[in-house]
Amino acid sequence: MALLKITFIFSLFLQAILCVSGGEHVVPYDGMVITSDTLLAHGDYYLPHGISIGSSNIFLNLNNSTLRGDSNQNVGITLDGYSNVYIGNGKITNYYYGIKISNGERNELAGLELFANWQDPNAQNPTPPSLDINVAPGDYGDKKNLGGGMWVSNVNGIKLHHHYLHDQENGVDLFNVTDASITNNRFGTHVGWCLHVWKSQGTSVNQNSFKNCVRRSSKDRDFSGNSAAVLINCGSVNSVLQFNTFVNSGSAFIISGFPTLRKNECCPSTMNIIFHNKIDQAVRGAFEDSFSNQNQYLSNNITNVGYGFLGMYLSGNTIISGNRITNAIHHGIILGHSNNNRISGNVLKNTTLGSQIELWTDLKEHYNPLSYQCLQLKNQQNSSNNEISGNIFETNSNFAINLINSTHSLIYNNYINLLKKAKSIKEEGLSFGNQWYTAKEKFPNICNGENLGGNYYSDYAGKERTQNDGFGDIPYNDNNLINEYDNLPLICKKNLNNLKPGMNFKFPSLILKKYFKSRK
Ligand SMILES: *[C@@H]1O[C@H](CO)[C@@H](O)[C@H](O)[C@H]1NC(C)=O
Ligand SMILES: *[C@@H]1O[C@H](CO)[C@@H](O)[C@H](O)[C@H]1NC(C)=O
Ligand SMILES: *[C@@H]1O[C@H](CO)[C@@H](O)[C@H](O)[C@H]1NC(C)=O
Ligand SMILES: *[C@@H]1O[C@H](CO)[C@@H](O)[C@H](O)[C@H]1NC(C)=O
Ligand SMILES: *[C@@H]1O[C@H](CO)[C@@H](O)[C@H](O)[C@H]1NC(C)=O
Ligand SMILES: *[C@@H]1O[C@H](CO)[C@@H](O)[C@H](O)[C@H]1NC(C)=O
Ligand SMILES: *[C@@H]1O[C@H](CO)[C@@H](O)[C@H](O)[C@H]1NC(C)=O
Repeated sequence: MALLKITFIFSLFLQAILCVSGGEHVVPYDGMVITSDTLLAHGDYYLPHGISIGSSNIFLNLNNSTLRGDSNQNVGITLDGYSNVYIGNGKITNYYYGIKISNGERNELAGLELFANWQDPNAQNPTPPSLDINVAPGDYGDKKNLGGGMWVSNVNGIKLHHHYLHDQENGVDLFNVTDASITNNRFGTHVGWCLHVWKSQGTSVNQNSFKNCVRRSSKDRDFSGNSAAVLINCGSVNSVLQFNTFVNSGSAFIISGFPTLRKNECCPSTMNIIFHNKIDQAVRGAFEDSFSNQNQYLSNNITNVGYGFLGMYLSGNTIISGNRITNAIHHGIILGHSNNNRISGNVLKNTTLGSQIELWTDLKEHYNPLSYQCLQLKNQQNSSNNEISGNIFETNSNFAINLINSTHSLIYNNYINLLKKAKSIKEEGLSFGNQWYTAKEKFPNICNGENLGGNYYSDYAGKERTQNDGFGDIPYNDNNLINEYDNLPLICKKNLNNLKPGMNFKFPSLILKKYFKSRK
């Protein structure tokens, strides 16, 4: 086992073909069950029913062979109920799923190319059907939402790395999986979800690349049909997704819990951390988070997207911090029907249509809390008690911050730089009780001045007040706030105009430091 594993890694990384002493080169046959360490003879094998694993503690080296199914039916390699199995170094194509792993622990798969397994042909239509994000393991066989590279269910500690997956419905579907590790994979074109995480815990997703995870015809931003590079839903918790790159997605991330058919079958996905990812071109948006709480989006770099962050029904402690959002079409960050969340230390530039940050509600209760108990929809009609602080805005159209029917939020220490026809801050509808400044506190502000208070506005007309404490002598309102003023508008002694690329994360990190300090 050990020798074979070393050989396998050797051949994987050095691309060397070695003869293993005593290793017999096995020619696989349709329906073969592998029960001991196996090295295939290199070849291109037509195996309509695939092969399966029939023992724990074994190693299967495909020796760069291709396993070929028939008409996208069945599975290339099936493993059910075995542990400590290694599978690697081959190509699997033309099945419903290339690989299906269920029940078992600590299996490891590496260096496989999974391509042209099932893909819904209707996904190519000019108006492709929308995907059901709540598709469940019981739906195995579904041809609209499932099929593709790997199906993984009810397993613990699986490792998936150095795979190349492309041209399928989904890349990897994880159902009820604990402590999966998914690293260094390359996800190419998929019309569903490149990575789908359902009711799973502790998933670690590190240094993968996701390219073209989008329904093919979804050129229109609002019709991505729920396709996404990463879908995390139905009570998936404690995932960490970091240092991944995303190019051209439907949404880069959809994180959600939402029961449609059955009560409580799809509860909030919480406590996931999305850190330091690079997201470019997502027709719908970089992040879509709904019916959840306590997810953290930290230090991601987002460019050319529909929405930077679209949050709906976030019930608390969602943290959107230290992100850089450039060229969003609709909104940089919008939270609807959401309470008690924090948006701090982000840099928002060039949002074209909507406000850069918007808090919104229509004041209606759209989901009967008794029908959707596990969603914890407390005060769902509200948009209240959110914090917007320490963000840097470079705004060239519309408003930097707009609060619609929103109450009791705190907005302070933001740097609002208005270019061209841009507008500053606004309240609409039944908005009240919002605070556009906090009590004076000795702590470095966004302009590197010595006191925290209100926000900086580049169109502020006042002068520094006589105390010389960094605040202006007349309150700021912009004529767009309803009975509210920023009573402590910041005077920036050093101009932050023309933000330099390298410096942008400096202020956010100050805010983060304060945040982590105050959490202790
Ligand atoms: C693997 O097989 C493919 C053909 O299927 C070939 O092009 C490639 O060079 C092989 N790689 C190695 C490392 O042998
Ligand atoms: C792959 O298969 C070929 C042909 O069967 C064989 O000569 C070679 O040794 C195998 N590679 C490895 C790594 O064993
Ligand atoms: C989830 O997987 C575990 C094994 O890891 C199993 O015991 C449990 O029954 C599964 N739950 C569901 C709902 O399938
Ligand atoms: C963010 O991504 C853009 C576009 O790729 C790049 O130009 C910029 O340097 C990145 N910014 C940071 C702070 O990483
Ligand atoms: C602003 O964003 C729009 C659309 O997202 C883009 O076409 C335009 O080039 C961007 N402007 C700058 C200065 O980057
Ligand atoms: C604000 O709430 C009212 C209901 O009280 C609703 O009619 C209106 O459409 C809301 N405003 C927006 C912009 O949604
Ligand atoms: C919820 O909204 C209502 C009406 O806008 C408001 O009176 C109430 O104070 C809000 N609740 C909280 C917790 O802010």
